[in-house]
Amino acid sequence: MARDESIRRVCLIGFMGAGKTTVGKVLARRLGWLFQDLDEAVERRQGKSVAEIFAENGEAEFRRLESVALEGLLSGNATPGSLVIALGGGAFAHPDNRRALEKAGATTVLLEAPLPELRRRCVGDGRTRPLAEDEKQFEQLFAARHSVYELAQARVDTMNKAVEQVAAEIEQMVVAATKPEVKQ
Ligand code: S3P
Repeated sequence: MARDESIRRVCLIGFMGAGKTTVGKVLARRLGWLFQDLDEAVERRQGKSVAEIFAENGEAEFRRLESVALEGLLSGNATPGSLVIALGGGAFAHPDNRRALEKAGATTVLLEAPLPELRRRCVGDGRTRPLAEDEKQFEQLFAARHSVYELAQARVDTMNKAVEQVAAEIEQMVVAATKPEVKQ
């Protein structure tokens, strides 16, 4: 089926602590679009937290649920209209998800920050992240995902910037990429 080109999907990607959810909410407000958080979509569907899914069903099952939830958000069935989506830190690392994003014509924006800053934010925000508990594993994942994050279409450095500023930078990119409507 042909895609409705007027419906946009802007997906924020990046490592844990990059600020995807926080920035995503502000960006959606600025654009007048809806916001969806992929982790929350998984939690809603399963009726349990990401940490519980990891503990009870394992990471592989979480990844499967994550892909299903992403397909749902990209299809637009649940939320008509343009959408800002905050992906979980590992979602973009999976080729099937990247293919789904490409097929949906989603714009991918990488939020960047140095590793110590990401660690600091994760420790400070009170969320339980199964893959952030062990500092060594956190560092190894960061290194392992580096090259895949480079595949994002755009990137924004978040270091020493207010959330509103990061959102404004992305908003400008989105607006600049919007083709003017052809009047018939
Ligand atoms: C993960 C990141 C988390 C969440 C899950 C796995 C990852 O989301 O999806 O704990 O693999 O990096 P945030 O990036 O929003 O913390």
